[in-house]
Amino acid sequence: MCGIVGYVGVAEAGTDVVLEGLRRLEYRGYDSAGIAVVAQGAGGTGIDTRKKAGKLANLVEALDADPLPAAATAIGHTRWATHGGPTDANAHPHVGQGGRLALIHNGIVENFAPLREELLRAGVAFTSETDTEVVAHLLARAHDEDPTAGLAAAMRAVCARLEGAFTLLAVHADEPGTIVGARRNSPLVVGLGEGANYLGSDVAAFIAHTREALELGQDQIVTITADEVVVTGFDGTPSEGRRFHVDWDAAAAEKGGFPSFMAKEIHDQPQAIADTLLGRTDAEGRLQLDEMKISEAELRSVDKIVVIACGTAAYAGQVAKYAIEHWCRIPVEVELAHEFRYRDPVVSDRTLVVAISQSGETMDTIMAVRHAREQGAKVLAICNTNGSTIPRESDAVLYTHAGPEIAVASTKAFLAQITACYLLGLYLAQLRGNKFADEVAEVLAQLHEIPAQVREVLDGLEQVREIARYMADTRSVLFLGRHVGYPVAMEGALKLKELAYIHAEGFAAGELKHGPIALVEPGQPVFVVVPSPRGRDSLHSKVVSNIQEVRARGARTLVIAERGDTAVEPFADVVIRIPQTSTLLSPLLAVVPLQVFACELATAKGLDVDQPRNLAKSVTVE
Ligand code: F6R
Repeated sequence: MCGIVGYVGVAEAGTDVVLEGLRRLEYRGYDSAGIAVVAQGAGGTGIDTRKKAGKLANLVEALDADPLPAAATAIGHTRWATHGGPTDANAHPHVGQGGRLALIHNGIVENFAPLREELLRAGVAFTSETDTEVVAHLLARAHDEDPTAGLAAAMRAVCARLEGAFTLLAVHADEPGTIVGARRNSPLVVGLGEGANYLGSDVAAFIAHTREALELGQDQIVTITADEVVVTGFDGTPSEGRRFHVDWDAAAAEKGGFPSFMAKEIHDQPQAIADTLLGRTDAEGRLQLDEMKISEAELRSVDKIVVIACGTAAYAGQVAKYAIEHWCRIPVEVELAHEFRYRDPVVSDRTLVVAISQSGETMDTIMAVRHAREQGAKVLAICNTNGSTIPRESDAVLYTHAGPEIAVASTKAFLAQITACYLLGLYLAQLRGNKFADEVAEVLAQLHEIPAQVREVLDGLEQVREIARYMADTRSVLFLGRHVGYPVAMEGALKLKELAYIHAEGFAAGELKHGPIALVEPGQPVFVVVPSPRGRDSLHSKVVSNIQEVRARGARTLVIAERGDTAVEPFADVVIRIPQTSTLLSPLLAVVPLQVFACELATAKGLDVDQPRNLAKSVTVE
């Protein structure tokens, strides 16, 4: 949710480096932003802050009008409001009692109310409604009680009293070249520079400066100076952290000439799929998943797969269900992570739980991963973010290589997730040597053609863009699909809701006559995702019948169909063509026009497609 940046390095650079980091993290939350620096003033070293409600641009304006003093130590925050509305006062950093400490926070301190009461009784005056300010005061007081012990010791003492999820960064005027960070159930990575070190909610915060990073574990405290990084547990036990190299370059986190990150990320999809496939097949065309840390024997004994994920990632799981069940004959359940977590799932040590997450920090999915492991299941993460919590807490990880996804609405990560799920399904089929195993190489060959086919789809979407612009005033759009087309329909509807704020529903086409068809009135736009006519015959003809049913009631039908499928033409107001591929792989092509439609329609309405209202990129609270 919120984005956090910290920098200790060269004098003068503090504000600029942190502002740049915040720009790259703004997708995480954009309700307000703020910076604190530790700087030398007339009266000695002190803390200076600037903070503003609204987007980062407001903070930049405030800084232009009233610049911060030059400083080598700075922390910055971009907020997605939880406790207290998005106002200047509630924006971070929060300054602790005495004005010598500043703190930023991502997460929710669940026991903030009794702690606040305690502080009020002790005479502390509050200036905001946030849970964060409570921590700022507690930390300032802990530091004042024993200044010689230092800020890290004070942080340890305070963290021991906090419940919930938090990443905290603090600076204190007594320790001008130091930032102390803490994390529990919330992301924080260290960037290792030359003569400078960085902290960030994710690597995008410091990628312009260094690609060497350190992953922190759960319940850890980190102290950075310009040339040292010290990690301990909350109990003070020294720890190392895991070093890793970030293989994204800074350009990947830029718009690259596109009008929005989302437009760029849609355009990047062929690469995201190709990179996710890269290096995972040997010379004989067999899948080689070297990173699969679950033993072959355990994978052979899997008798059920449960996919846990949220939102778009859960739709990737639904596509995976059709493919894996077909290829492996293993039952696959797909469950929203936040639902899985609060029931007694029937899983065993023969269940493979697959947690799909772009960010690797979605709190609902993290909690579901823990719940699954407590029940004895093995957990495989499918994740796009190295150094994040979900892979670290899973038994194995299959990384998607989509590169940084900055736009809040997921696009390229979705296609990369589906690709990784296909790899998993094919790998299991190959390993278990079932009757499908012989076809693995053939499907892999088709899969390798998909990046070029996605490029073809992207190159032929002018018609979709035009329709979207023309439909800018539309109030409701329905999406229908069967089989793998059903999750595609739901994803199309989700994209339209979140980007264009239009009521949209995705339905299984067969469900229509059981109720939703009542929604159809003359002029109602209905997208229909049509399966290949070369696949299972009845599936295609059933969907064509569904198009006729809505058309007969006056719907305006926008049909996504394979090139050469003439059967849809008499019943389609618009046909959007995609290249031919097998039905199981078709979601990778069919969803692309729907993403572009949503992006274009939102743009036509003058909306910010990268940062839709009320949303944040990674949902790090439950
Ligand atoms: C929708 C979208 C969300 C995410 C969901 C899970 O466009 O992006 O629905 O898919 O919040 O996020 P991750 O994949 O980071 O766990």
